[in-house]
Amino acid sequence: MRVILFGATGMVGQGVLRECLLDADVESVLAIGRSPTGQTHAKLREIVHDNFLDFSTIESQMSGFDACFFCLGVSSVGMSDERYRHLTYDITMAAATTLARLNPGMVFIYVTGRGTGSTEQGRLMWARVKGKTENDLLKLPFKAAYMFRPAGIQPLHGIKSKTAWVQAIYVATAPLLTMLNRVSPTYMTTTEQVGRAMIRVARDGYPKPVLESEDINRV
Ligand SMILES: NC(=O)c1ccc[n+]([C@@H]2O[C@H](COP(=O)([O-])OP(=O)(O)OC[C@H]3O[C@@H](n4cnc5c(N)ncnc54)[C@H](OP(=O)(O)O)[C@@H]3O)[C@@H](O)[C@H]2O)c1
Repeated sequence: MRVILFGATGMVGQGVLRECLLDADVESVLAIGRSPTGQTHAKLREIVHDNFLDFSTIESQMSGFDACFFCLGVSSVGMSDERYRHLTYDITMAAATTLARLNPGMVFIYVTGRGTGSTEQGRLMWARVKGKTENDLLKLPFKAAYMFRPAGIQPLHGIKSKTAWVQAIYVATAPLLTMLNRVSPTYMTTTEQVGRAMIRVARDGYPKPVLESEDINRV
């Protein structure tokens, strides 16, 4: 598989990148981000891009891929509705519409979150925005699109969140998270499980387009 990865510098994306580089089924990874990952690997190529609403200057390098793992995303905490919508919906759809046009045989996997509202009518702003993003991604002409809705994600293998308060919580609760991950797959997964599930779902498909935490852990 030839994979395009968005968000490779983030907590989820670092985990997905690690699994892609380890997996023999992944031939190459193109990471597109606004900052470099700082990693070097024979399978990894990177494009540092500055306008995530317009990919026309790098389009020529975005075709010929089998899968996109879209891990770019932000927490809504402390963010205006308008900014959150821009970073979540506008950026994701700009990238996805470009990729669908260039790669009709592509499998697109989007990291959203537990509690995302498919009706787009719920009480929580973030859940409505993620719900609309999911719904509109599912309408694009990809070979297939899958929405990953993890609840908590424990970072493994030295991976860190870019968001300081999230990282502080993970450090403080690491033993509890390890235990929760064993006993409660509905509420907890790991960066390793998310990455491995993405590769398997892109390769083999999955019976339904929305995967909750327990599905991610089961794949
Ligand atoms: N962490 C969790 O426990 C968890 C649980 C459930 C769902 N999720 C979802 O997973 C997704 C990723 O979360 P995460 O924890 O990996 O976040 P993170 O560690 O904060 O990483 C965010 C990623 O998005 C990129 N990014 C942010 N704003 C950008 C912008 N304006 N333009 C271009 N790139 C931008 C960052 O790039 P830079 O490095 O350049 O900043 C980074 O690669 C989010 O949608 C989140 O809701 C996370």
